[in-house]
Amino acid sequence: MTEHMIHSHKVLAENIHEYWVEAPLVARKYRAGQFVIIRLNDYGERIPLTVVEADPALGRIRLIVQEAGKSTKEMSLLQSGDSILDVVGPLGKPTHLENWGNLIAICGGVGAAPLLPIVKAAAGIGNAVYAVIGSRSKNLMILEDEFRAVCKDVRVATDDGTYGLKGLVTDALKAWVREGQSFQQAIIVGPVMMMQAAAEVTKELGIPAMASLNPIMVDGTGMCGGCRVTVYGKTYFACVDGPEFDAHGVDFRELQLRNQAYRPFEKNATDLFSDHKCKLDDPELQAKSHGR
Ligand SMILES: Cc1cc2nc3c(=O)[nH]c(=O)nc-3n(C[C@H](O)[C@H](O)[C@H](O)COP(=O)(O)OP(=O)(O)OC[C@H]3O[C@@H](n4cnc5c(N)ncnc54)[C@H](O)[C@@H]3O)c2cc1C
Ligand code: FES
Repeated sequence: MTEHMIHSHKVLAENIHEYWVEAPLVARKYRAGQFVIIRLNDYGERIPLTVVEADPALGRIRLIVQEAGKSTKEMSLLQSGDSILDVVGPLGKPTHLENWGNLIAICGGVGAAPLLPIVKAAAGIGNAVYAVIGSRSKNLMILEDEFRAVCKDVRVATDDGTYGLKGLVTDALKAWVREGQSFQQAIIVGPVMMMQAAAEVTKELGIPAMASLNPIMVDGTGMCGGCRVTVYGKTYFACVDGPEFDAHGVDFRELQLRNQAYRPFEKNATDLFSDHKCKLDDPELQAKSHGR
């Protein structure tokens, strides 16, 4: 099996890392909206990550990863020259793009990373893209310059008011509409609660909206059922039918509950990893942190 070398690793913000990783086949086939599932090593769990950018000439893909639990913390220890065991993809459907007119792109936290390639592709086919980027605080905001480079306008919102509007991304959206700006389509990416709120507000404002969903994924091929989501009462598998769906029909409460289902196991794995400073070359601790 070919391992995938990390060509660069940069810290973008507290606990948020950017990697360029060798994956020539993915780089060649990838389209905006698609993701990969990676496994760091023989003991690794499979984690889905959006491809933020691809360089087919160099055969590399760009990943932006927030430390959430054991696997992403373990990944944060990897440096350029290290390798990732598996990179499977591109997975999922590419984003459905049209020339809508004015597109409002709304993201929270590390959701800016999956949103950026969609925004670039939508602007590339002639949409006027407006973006609202939200984060808890100024030092956690990522990719603002890259959004500004392709968007007609960008507004920022922070929970603590350290940058831009003090408040939620939905407050920024409502203010924009109050000022007379019209939007024909919205795309929403971020934590489940934020996506739910943005879906409700876009519905009230009569703006059709897509949300890029982040359920637990395992195989990424539609076989395991891990990523089951409900949209307008119908069951879909986000890995093959998505990850984007009509935001106004998504059962976000179910998504939230399903994402919490493994919390005790995830906490155990993260605690063991942190306590023992579990290293990639320590199979015994690796196995223990996976409950083996
Ligand atoms: C299509 C898709 C694209 C994603 N893109 C990105 C991205 O570009 N950057 C980024 O930082 N994160 C992304 N994520 C989320 C990322 O996959 C999880 O943060 C990661 O799997 C957490 O693993 P962990 O072991 O570090 O944390 P854990 O402690 O295992 O879990 C922390 C939380 O992450 C979620 N999670 C755990 N395992 C999975 C899994 N196998 N699949 C999905 N979610 C999981 C759960 O909500 C969980 O409570 C994406 C998720 C999906 C479904
Ligand atoms: S991840 Fe298994 S069905 Fe989608």
